[in-house]
Amino acid sequence: MKDTSLSNSSAEEAVGPFLKAGIIGLGVGERHIAGYEAHPQCRVTVLCDLNEEALRSCGKRHPGRRLTTRPEDVLDDPSLDIISVAGYDDSHAAQVIAALERGKHVFVEKPLCLSREEADSIRKAWKRSGKRFSSNLILRLSPRFQALRERIASGLFGNLYYVEGDYNYGRIWKITEGWRGRLPFYSVVYGGGVHIVDLLVFLTGRKIRSVVARGNKICTANTRFRYNDFNVALLDFEDGMIGKVSSNFGCVLPHFHQIQIYGTKRTFLQTAAGTREYDSREPNDSGHEVSEAYPGIEKGDLLYNFVEAVLNRAPLLISEEEVFDAMAVCFAIEESAREGKAVEISAIR
Ligand SMILES: NC(=O)c1ccc[n+]([C@@H]2O[C@H](COP(=O)([O-])OP(=O)(O)OC[C@H]3O[C@@H](n4cnc5c(N)ncnc54)[C@H](O)[C@@H]3O)[C@@H](O)[C@H]2O)c1
Repeated sequence: MKDTSLSNSSAEEAVGPFLKAGIIGLGVGERHIAGYEAHPQCRVTVLCDLNEEALRSCGKRHPGRRLTTRPEDVLDDPSLDIISVAGYDDSHAAQVIAALERGKHVFVEKPLCLSREEADSIRKAWKRSGKRFSSNLILRLSPRFQALRERIASGLFGNLYYVEGDYNYGRIWKITEGWRGRLPFYSVVYGGGVHIVDLLVFLTGRKIRSVVARGNKICTANTRFRYNDFNVALLDFEDGMIGKVSSNFGCVLPHFHQIQIYGTKRTFLQTAAGTREYDSREPNDSGHEVSEAYPGIEKGDLLYNFVEAVLNRAPLLISEEEVFDAMAVCFAIEESAREGKAVEISAIR
């Protein structure tokens, strides 16, 4: 489909097409501003938040943009090429679909949406639109995980047989006191575990075929948070590799991604106590420290690539299909915990 959405500006002659972006939701969404504007051909022109105070204070920090408390003003603005959807989780699906239907490219905060049905509708809207969309599964961009992926791909680890990742949230008050606990539904898997699901697939290059999961709600007992605050899932990957992902929102730890990769020739262990790699079974070998930056990224860092992809100059670092695939695994994890049985992954297609 021909893309007719690029708007003109005085900068067009100097640098080519110039893109205008609008942002809905100004918590982590505020950090999208720097992400878009790191690209010389993109400018954020509209900011939106339902909360007037949040809108005004963000507007003061980033002057010269149109401010609105009405998401429709952003969705219906014909001058915009790109929309960031960064409000609460339960607002994502409707806004993503509305933006795609209005011919916008869409960058949505994770989670993409809250159900398989919503994901199916988003996929249909995306296919009809011919536009690009991606989601902020930012861990992939961490220099440490980029380097680890290269070492795995080079064969240094031998055959991978077990990988695991713990999303140790460490900020329990956000679910017991903040908006997450007030939503009609909140999933720690969709809100946190999705980062790890995506990261393990990215690191290993393998697909997940089925999951079996359990959850509990012990850390937030007697609070207004009504859903499981802990979930652990065993993942069956293709080629016999096994994985584990936990979404651990009540843990007594600082926020951290604990990642362990086991191959026949090498082991990578990232724990709160340090990150080391081992290539021997000798009792006195303490391995070597892994020193690439972690996380080493800002929340808006994927947006440079997103703008490049919209300009048709680069593939998306996180493609539309990869966003759907990560969500399909998360839906299966929630279903498995709820139904108490193993669930095959069925792609959102
Ligand atoms: N990618 C990441 O690593 C990452 C990190 C944090 C949050 N998030 C996601 O970002 C989203 C927002 O979380 P947050 O931490 O920024 O929350 P936040 O409470 O800090 O900020 C959210 C803001 O969005 C506004 N808002 C909510 N719904 C809205 C709507 N429908 N229209 C317009 N404004 C709306 C709120 O008034 C609030 O000011 C969530 O979906 C969350 O999962 C992603």
